[in-house]
Amino acid sequence: MCCILSKAVAKAASGAPRQRLPPAPGLPLLSMAGYLSESDFVMVEEGFSTRDLLEELTLGASQATTGKVAAFFVADLGAVVRKHFCFLKYLPRVQPFYAVRCNSSLGVLKVLAELGLGFSCANKAEMELVQHIGVPASKIICANPCKQVAQIKHAARHGVRLLSFDNEVELAKVVKSHPSAKMVLCIATQDSHSLNHLSLRFGASLKSCRHLLENAKKSHVEVVGVSFHIGSGCPDPQAYAQSIADARLVFQMGAELGHTMNILDLGGGFPGLEGAKVRFEEMASVINSALDLYFPEGCGVDILAELGRYYVTSAFTVAVSIVAKKEVLDQPSREEQTGSAPKSIVYHLDEGVYGVFNSVLFDNTCPTPALQKKPSADQPLYCSSLWGPAGEGCDCVAEGLWLPQLQVGDWLVFDNMGAYTVHTESLLGGTQACRVTYAMSRLAWEALRGQLLPAEEDPDAEGVCKPLSCGWEITDTLCVGPVFTPASIM
Ligand SMILES: Cc1ncc(COP(=O)(O)O)c(C=O)c1O
Repeated sequence: MCCILSKAVAKAASGAPRQRLPPAPGLPLLSMAGYLSESDFVMVEEGFSTRDLLEELTLGASQATTGKVAAFFVADLGAVVRKHFCFLKYLPRVQPFYAVRCNSSLGVLKVLAELGLGFSCANKAEMELVQHIGVPASKIICANPCKQVAQIKHAARHGVRLLSFDNEVELAKVVKSHPSAKMVLCIATQDSHSLNHLSLRFGASLKSCRHLLENAKKSHVEVVGVSFHIGSGCPDPQAYAQSIADARLVFQMGAELGHTMNILDLGGGFPGLEGAKVRFEEMASVINSALDLYFPEGCGVDILAELGRYYVTSAFTVAVSIVAKKEVLDQPSREEQTGSAPKSIVYHLDEGVYGVFNSVLFDNTCPTPALQKKPSADQPLYCSSLWGPAGEGCDCVAEGLWLPQLQVGDWLVFDNMGAYTVHTESLLGGTQACRVTYAMSRLAWEALRGQLLPAEEDPDAEGVCKPLSCGWEITDTLCVGPVFTPASIM
């Protein structure tokens, strides 16, 4: 499709069942699990970037003479791979699960499955989606503590055994519909400083945990662990330390009541933006210290996390076209009355806060576009606002932006758009999802393939290798078992 890129556009949205890759001659493909293949993405060759691809795609869309011009995403799967290596480097004791609700696009699910992640699903549709691409039930946790009975039954029928709960009613439903489930008790956290207060809805208070554990014991339900979620956008990494300490207390209660607990699930809340207020490395350092204190190595507890935005935020860029514009003359101030009246410009886009820009409503963000053509120094800038298609006062994407004069048909490009913006059509009840074009640099693809080499095939390997940095060079020494399952759900 693109002359700068070696392969045709991915068929990633096709949803075709997983196929095993034939091993290519001379390449160590034995350990590739086969979730992702080269036909799923556009290969970006050295010297080019996903930005070049985006420019080609916007050019193509502008020149198309038929059909509606619709917003579309470009997803850099290499960025997801890089995030994973970084995660392994900074949190080597933690097994990452991916929170499917954050971005259920197939390219993301496939690359993460290829990297060996487990999946955290909130409902039946998400479980079906990850099982459809071939993820085994043993790598799925149904991490919604308040599920419909039909979802619990679906988990039982399809072998998903790890379920979370935070109340007695949920326990009673599980006793009836999935008696062999292994339950993870979700505890509330101190998340009042987070942007997203999940503990308002989810999580048992420490006071109620003993009662819930007793109840589970009486009902012969196994409780195998504790989970929490500090909320997204938490400015204080100590929230993890506090919750890990709380979890230790619940483990003690569980042991006293005869539960064999061996899973600690740290939830999500890790930042997805590079320039986040609290950096991932800082959070990791607080977590590692708390784990060493409360769950030291060798204590027999598997540590998991359910990451959403961390993996996908920076990997996705969305291109949105201007569909209409209006110039508004501002009221001139006394001093300006002699000159020409200043104006502001209102632009209408084909996506708004009820679509891909929902972070404006939920995360309080102010999306700022990157312009495809850099304005020259002498080009005047106008105070501009961007509005979605809903035609009502709430659908304001951004206000007070200083932009050059733009035209209908111009494309605005927004970076860091991967979290809570994209879903597969199957999860949208038939609604049209925005098109996603997946891309990956050859370097990232080679790194992805290399990291799945079994340790014994790496002549330089000495037992289990630890990653050295977040750069691609780590892939020479990074030996990660392609599959993991918490021992307690085997
Ligand atoms: C239970 C649970 N786990 C993980 C996540 C992912 O959170 P984040 O995107 O902040 O990593 C969520 C998000 O709502 C969640 O509800």
